[in-house]
Amino acid sequence: MKTRSLGRSGLAVSALGLGCMGMSEFYGPGDDAESIATIHRAIELGLTFFDTADVYGPFKNEELVGRAIKGKRDQLIIATKFGIVRDPENPKARGVNGKPDYIRKSCEGSLRRLGTDYIDLYYQHRVDPNTPIEETVGVAKVEDIAKQKGCTASQLALAWVLAQGGDIVPIPGTRRRSRLAENLKSLDVQLTGEDLKQIEETFPRGIASGERYSEQMMKLIDAA
Ligand SMILES: NC(=O)c1ccc[n+]([C@@H]2O[C@H](COP(=O)([O-])OP(=O)(O)OC[C@H]3O[C@@H](n4cnc5c(N)ncnc54)[C@H](OP(=O)(O)O)[C@@H]3O)[C@@H](O)[C@H]2O)c1
Repeated sequence: MKTRSLGRSGLAVSALGLGCMGMSEFYGPGDDAESIATIHRAIELGLTFFDTADVYGPFKNEELVGRAIKGKRDQLIIATKFGIVRDPENPKARGVNGKPDYIRKSCEGSLRRLGTDYIDLYYQHRVDPNTPIEETVGVAKVEDIAKQKGCTASQLALAWVLAQGGDIVPIPGTRRRSRLAENLKSLDVQLTGEDLKQIEETFPRGIASGERYSEQMMKLIDAA
């Protein structure tokens, strides 16, 4: 099977994947036995990339894929999604949600239904216009990494800045003693090369960054 490197994820996948949505919804009645046999045949033929989402079914498609990949998960790249909210009582009504709390719960549900402890590609169906994208892509992950390091998200951010070079001196602003104390403790957070790599991979440059000021203020910088 030919393979390709998928977008910026760098994941090596078969050059064709299998879209599983229609097995559970939207294209008329499904036949779970035939759907599972189709996934198994796809694996035999060398496909490694399978796409589902919590919203398909809703939830039934991830359960179906989970049943089909049982015992075969290690060889596969599984993509699933979050961000479209459906009410099982009224499945035609849709909303969007990009809040970190929602994403964390969605992720836990997807892992459970897929019968796995990791998702290779977890992506957002629709951007939530009421949630800044930095919050959606960043906060949940930075909190997770900080938890692993036994520090707060702010301390992790400052520790990362400190790790950029021995000549770098952050000047975090605060009006509170509690935050001053919290920020000072960032000096005790030791980031290993592996931690830095994980942070860089979680926040590829260009995704969680932006202009420093508004357009008008930017014009005043180096204006001469
Ligand atoms: N050279 C320049 O052009 C320039 C421009 C801007 C600023 N500066 C200097 O850089 C300093 C820092 O910049 P800045 O204040 O704009 O940005 P900053 O340090 O990135 O952010 C300050 C904000 O973060 C909050 N904060 C601080 N510690 C926190 C923590 N542990 N958890 C959550 N929130 C926390 C503060 O709220 P609380 O106050 O409520 O804690 C405040 O709202 C300024 O004070 C100034 O001296 C220089």
